[in-house]
Order: sequence, then structure tokens, then C-alpha cells
Amino acid sequence: MHLLLKILLLFQGFCFAFGFRDFNLGRSKGGNIGSPPLINLDEEVPEPKLFDQIVDHSDPSNKDSYKQRYFVNEKYFSKNAPATVFLMLGGEGRFDARWMITGAWIDYAKNFNALCFGLEHRFYGDSHPTKDVSTKNLQYLTTIQALKDVANFITEMNQAYKLAKDTKWVVFGGSYSGSLAAWMRLKFPHLVHAAVSSSGPLLAVADFREYYKIVVKALHEKTGSNKCQQQITKAHLEIKALMSAEPETLERDFKVCQKFSESTTNDIKNFYNIIAENFADLVQYNEDNRIGSDENSRNITINTVCGLMTIPVNIPAYKRLAKFNAMMLKKNNQTCMDYSYDNMITELRKTSWGKDEARQWMYQTCTEFGFFQTSSAEYKIFGNEFELDFFIQQCQDVFGKKYDKKFLQNSIDWTNTEYGGLNYTVNHVIFVQGTIDPWHALGITYSNNPIDMPALYIKGTAHCANMYPARDSDLPDLKQARTTIAQHLRLWLQHP
Ligand SMILES: *[C@@H]1O[C@H](CO)[C@@H](O)[C@H](O)[C@H]1NC(C)=O
Ligand SMILES: *[C@@H]1O[C@H](CO)[C@@H](O)[C@H](O)[C@H]1NC(C)=O
Ligand SMILES: *[C@@H]1O[C@H](CO)[C@@H](O)[C@H](O)[C@H]1NC(C)=O
Repeated sequence: MHLLLKILLLFQGFCFAFGFRDFNLGRSKGGNIGSPPLINLDEEVPEPKLFDQIVDHSDPSNKDSYKQRYFVNEKYFSKNAPATVFLMLGGEGRFDARWMITGAWIDYAKNFNALCFGLEHRFYGDSHPTKDVSTKNLQYLTTIQALKDVANFITEMNQAYKLAKDTKWVVFGGSYSGSLAAWMRLKFPHLVHAAVSSSGPLLAVADFREYYKIVVKALHEKTGSNKCQQQITKAHLEIKALMSAEPETLERDFKVCQKFSESTTNDIKNFYNIIAENFADLVQYNEDNRIGSDENSRNITINTVCGLMTIPVNIPAYKRLAKFNAMMLKKNNQTCMDYSYDNMITELRKTSWGKDEARQWMYQTCTEFGFFQTSSAEYKIFGNEFELDFFIQQCQDVFGKKYDKKFLQNSIDWTNTEYGGLNYTVNHVIFVQGTIDPWHALGITYSNNPIDMPALYIKGTAHCANMYPARDSDLPDLKQARTTIAQHLRLWLQHP
């Protein structure tokens, strides 16, 4: 179970920490306690509503439908023409209703008198198109089906709310749903007037080795030195040596659930991968302002962890790394570090609803995106233990032999041809990325059309920082980005 959190991290870009929270109940609890300053407590979070959605948009003769969850906030809406509707797209996890009353988009909604909808993504949360998540049923989990859900939803809501013909819909999303937001404008320009795409990866790649490159760069960017990465490198060399010389020492310091002597090659790959993922987690969410992020864990930042790694006292580097590992275990409410490959695969093979949603997101990565965060570019720092084949093997072990390297490459080529990858030119779309968010490598950070398709590349922020509620301590570039987004919306919403 514990490992699943890691799996999600491994694959997930999640802005909303949607699925994340589900995986990580301890953190969620802490988060709820830590949230009040961010949320207007007088205001009720809206109840979910259910929408009759088509299961298979590719087959008009198939009349099957499912209940897709959505949320509405009409508080700021004024029907004065031209009406404005905002739609927050759900991504790879349960839709958190708190987004309906908080976050930067709600501040924009107040300014533009927008009607606000939130739509949960099929196969996540309680939006279940099929009776379980067997591999056969997951065939309906594709971006095309998800985009058509959104198109159908918009069409139906235009009628249900008797919205005027010139009503303008703006879609918002972050991380994977940021990609969906951009693709909605690309595929359905007649339904979607504009899109705000935050931290969206637009280019599918099998081997996302750039990810750890940016993790390492971020350590430097935040601390202003290479000392932190040098210490991590040193720690890995020590771990490697201890693994054969003194495994008991490592077992104790890293609080592992199973002995190294009882481990397989894949277990060991997983062990190294988890250590690297701790840094991925650290960087991807550095100093962010997530709704519900655990107050007690807020001080686990690049600067505090690199402080721990580099403080000049006489402690071996691996012990410092183990200390960081212990912090992450605690933060994730885990009593020991479960690096068993079989446990992970067994968990991911479970096909009933109500399990962790890592299986669904993994399916999406194995069939459309790749995004596998390999050690291949930074093997000196994290060890070259988790290369592309390790991830492809996971696809095959979980979903079947068919999901091999060739299948993955074909899928990725299909995705990039379908959406254009980074060769994206559509107007009324604003792209937002952060310099220390590793996902920016697959997104648009520069645009030669800053009026119609601006790209904001925020200095010093992590994943989806611009979506969270503003706070005084936000970096100047982040504050500016929120203002720039509002200016563009103003420009585009006034246009006929
Ligand atoms: C998280 O930890 C708390 C105690 O700190 C415990 O009550 C709770 O059951 C734990 N949750 C999980 C999912 O392990
Ligand atoms: C964060 O704060 C807690 C409690 O104040 C402390 O125990 C912990 O060591 C701190 N962590 C870091 C990384 O500074
Ligand atoms: C993007 O454009 C470049 C240069 O024209 C081309 O080589 C590449 O294949 C294109 N990518 C996609 C996904 O279409």
C-alpha cells in the first residue's frame, strides 16, 4: 500500500494533488487542519452533481452512459451578456470540491462574473464509466474520450442553464488537466473560447530523463550552490558500498520493510527509485501552497533539506539522506519503506473501484504518454538503476505482455501527432510554467506570439504554483503571472 503513494508520485504530474490526497490520508488530515487561512470557512463547499455522460464517444450506436460528477458555483455569475463560464477540468484524481470556492481562478471568476463549473475526469474519483478498472474496461480511458466528455458537458450545460449564444467558456487545468485545457481549445474552438493551461506537459515522451535533470538544477537554483547535489552523489556511493558490506546498517537507517538479502533485482531498482522520488516530491512541490498541504511538512523544502545534507557536522552523507527519507516516511504516514516490486505490482493489478487510482494513471502513461522519469540523465546522482526498461516492464506486468516498448512508442507517436506536441499554435491560450517544476521540460515556456498565445515562465516556482490561492509571501514573478493571466482573460473575453 505504502508504495502506491510512490507510484503515483512517480507517474504523476498532479497539480491538484487530487489522487495524491487519496493515497495519503495522513497528509490529507494534516492538510485539512492546516487549511483554514486558505479557505473562507463561512462558505460551503458545493455538493457534487451528476451528469449523464456517454461511455464511448467513438461509437454513436453505443448508448451506454455513466454518472460523471461535476460541481457548480453560481455565486459570482451575472447573466449580463456576454456571459462568461469558467470550467475547471479534473485530472488524474478525485475532483476536490474545495477548488470550487478557492484558488486563483475563483478570484478571476469574481472579476469576470463567471459561472463556475468543475468536472471530474472519467475513471477518477466517483466518475465510473465501467463496472471495474479491468484492462479491457480501461480502453475507455483515453484523452480523446475525456475531451469529448468535456465537449458534451459544455453543450449540455449551455442548454440546461439557457446560456446565451455568445456565452464564452474558459477552461482551466493544471498538470495533466492543463494539457487537456490546451487540447480542448485546439479540438473544440467552437465550444471553448479560451484556455489557461498551467504546468501542462504537451509532449509525450517514453524516457522523460529531463525530469531529474531539472530536479538537480532546481537544487542549485534554490541554494545557489552545487553542494547539495554533491552530497547526494556521495550518499549514493556510500549506499552502494554499504549494500554489500553492511546491509543491516542500511536496513536500519532507511527503515526498510524487508531485508536486502531477501530482495530481487527489481526490488533494489525500486529502492533507488524511491530515494530519487523523495527528491522529485521535494522539488515538484517546493514551497507550494496546495490546499490541504500538511502544515507540519511545510518546512520540508529544498532549502531545509539541502541544509540538512550540507551542514558541516561529522555525519556521513548517506545518514543525512536516510534522515530525509525518514522525514518523508513520516510525512506520508508510513512506518517502513516498502520497496517490494511484487507488492507494488500486486496492488496495481487490483481492478475494483475504490482502490488507489495509481492504476488508472499508470494505464494512461503506458498507453498515451510515457513520461517515465528515468535515472538515465542523472545516473551519477541517483544511480542508473531505473531506466526505461524498468518502467516498460511495469506496464507489462500490470496490464499484459502487449504493452511493450514498441506499443509504447507507437502510442506516444500517436499522441504527438494527434495534439502536435510542442508545435502548438492556437490563439486564446495562456501557458504557465515554473522554472523549478521538472514538468516544464515537456511544456511551452516560450511563445513568439505573446498576445494571442502567451507563455509565462515563472522564475522560482514549482508545479502549478499560479493556481493556488495568492499569499503575501508569493514570489514577485508569481504575483505578476496571476495579474498577466487576468489581463489576457480581460482582453479575450471582451473580444466578440
Ligand atoms: C496516519 O497516522 C495517524 C496517526 O498519526 C493514524 O491515526 C492514521 O491511521 C494514519 N493513517 C494511515 C492511512 O496510515
Ligand atoms: C520541521 O519542523 C518540525 C517541527 O517543528 C521539526 O521536527 C523538523 O525537524 C523540521 N524539518 C526540517 C526539514 O527542518
Ligand atoms: C514539430 O515540428 C518539427 C519541425 O517542423 C518537427 O520536426 C516535429 O516532428 C514536429 N512535432 C510534432 C509532434 O508534430
